Parts: sequence; C-alpha cells; structure tokens
Amino acid sequence: MPLPLGQFPTRVTGAGGLLVKRDDEANLGGYGGNKVRKLSYLLEDARARGLHRLVTLGAAGSHHVLATAYYGRREGFEVAAVLVPQPRTDHVVETLRATLAQGALITPARFGWAGVPLQLASLLAGPGTSFIATGGSSPLGTRGYVDAAAEIAGEDPSEVVCALGSGGTAAGLAIGAVLQGLACTVHGVLVADPKSVVPWLTRRLVERTARLVDPHSRTLAREALKKLVIVTDELGRGYGYPTARGDAATERAAAAGITLDGTYTAKAYAYAEDRVRRAAATARPVLYWHTLSSSPPDAFLDDRAADNVADIYAPLLPSA
Ligand SMILES: Cc1ncc(COP(=O)(O)O)c(C=O)c1O
Repeated sequence: MPLPLGQFPTRVTGAGGLLVKRDDEANLGGYGGNKVRKLSYLLEDARARGLHRLVTLGAAGSHHVLATAYYGRREGFEVAAVLVPQPRTDHVVETLRATLAQGALITPARFGWAGVPLQLASLLAGPGTSFIATGGSSPLGTRGYVDAAAEIAGEDPSEVVCALGSGGTAAGLAIGAVLQGLACTVHGVLVADPKSVVPWLTRRLVERTARLVDPHSRTLAREALKKLVIVTDELGRGYGYPTARGDAATERAAAAGITLDGTYTAKAYAYAEDRVRRAAATARPVLYWHTLSSSPPDAFLDDRAADNVADIYAPLLPSA
C-alpha cells in the first residue's frame, strides 16, 4: 500500500472545453504537485526494505528533489541529491532555496550530467540507501499515475495533456487509461532534452511499468503506447528555458486562478489551449493535468536556507 502522503482524489475544475485536474492541490498546505503520487509508492518501498536514506538527482530547480527532501524528512529519511545546473529564473531560485531549507545534503554536479554517475555512486555507497530515479519515474513511482487515471473515469475527455519531463506522469496515465477503458489519448508535452532520447526513455518506461503492473499481459504495454502522443514542438530552446507561448499561457491561466511555471506547466498549458480550439468540434473536453504544487516553494523556507545558498547558486544557476 502506498503511503498516504497527499489528499486524493484531487478536484477537476474548469468549464467549457478545458478541464483542469488539480494535482497542484494534492497536498493543500504542504507540498503538492505530481511528485506526491510517485513518492507515496517510493517511500513506502524504502521503508518496507528497512532503508533510512534517499539519494536522488535532478536539475537545480527540480520540484522532484524538493518534494523528495520535504516528504523524505517528514517521513524520517535522510535525503541527499546531486543537482545539475539549469538556467536561472526566480522560480528556480526559490525552489533551490526551499530544497536546501529541508536540510537535504546537496552535491552540485560541477561537470553537468556527464559527471553525475560518479558523484551518485559515492552517495549510493552509504549504508541503508534507496535510490530514487530522476523525477521519481521508476516503474514503481510511475504506478502512482497508473492509479490516478481512475479519478477521471467520469470525465470522458478526448485528450489528457500533461508536461513530460522524466516521463512517469504521461506513461502512468497512458497505462491507467487502458486499464480504466478510457477513450482518451494522453499527450505528453516534452519539456526536457535531448529530444531524441527522452521520448524513447518514456516509451521504455511504459513497457517496464506495464510489466510491473501486469506481468502476464501481452497487450497492456502495446495498448498504452498507442494512447501515448509525445509532443515535441513546445520545448523551445530547451529544458528550463521559458518560451513566449508559455509566458502568454501563464498570464491567461493566472486570470483563471491557475499558477504555472516556465519549465514545465506553461508549455503544457499552451498546448492544451491549442487542443481545445481544435477539439471544439468533438464536443468532448480536453483535460489538462496540472502538476505544479499550489503551495509555492517559498512556503518551505526557513533560516537554514540562508547559509549555503550563495555558494551553491553560482555554479548551478547560469543566467537564462
Ligand atoms: C511541475 C512539474 N510538472 C510536470 C513534470 C513532468 O513530470 P514527469 O517527470 O513525470 O514527466 C515535472 C517533473 O519534474 C514537474 O516538476
């Protein structure tokens, strides 16, 4: 049984052609967003195996690393992470400060992704350690989104749209949609590079997760892959670089009470709005799955955040 870290089911709001699945509210007053469902499985597994330390990785402003640090500490784990540089934005700076405020041991990846395996290996050598994949997107973490699809069984959208970074959200929803017999396709809006690798890894994640969910099925992975559409044209200059379309979508979403970020959700929301215009003729709504925490990172700051940030910022946050 996954640990009850959040409040589920989350609401579906919105009107007209665009529905919004509010995973931003997965933990009201705490840290929400799409990491909650994944970590519910991952932390339960670490606990069941008697481990007391979590080691993970991500970009400097990773919501996943913040969520792991937050829930890990809350559930009694030590947390360590290797962080890779990403372009500086206000949101990224706040997220990094909030991560440091959780007391996580942060190792900056000084040689980009190339040096990460070596730095991870030394962290993983510590006793009692559970490795948590980038974005929580191992097959086990992805199960959180396989389960989540059951929550939209009554909505009948033509398409579900979400941001696709490490792939677990889209992969899990595609599998869950098959298991629930939903008629929708699942559109993962690519926000991470390289463009030639991440879609491939995501499809592999579908296959690996389908095997975990139903080892005997010969069709689950194939059916889920048919449902999964990977959209590559919202990425812009690359991971972490805001786009003009995303910025404009952020303003429109704010007017509807939805807060977006430039790395993930702005790009997905911009695409969802376009799909609403195209789907108008089908009379079925588009469902945008909102994956950003509704509590902003600065809600998790305390005095500890102030000490080591200056040292850690400079190499991790080159200007955008
Ligand atoms: C706010 C937000 N939305 C979407 C995603 C992408 O989800 P996934 O990594 O499961 O593809 C992330 C991943 O870090 C995220 O932080």
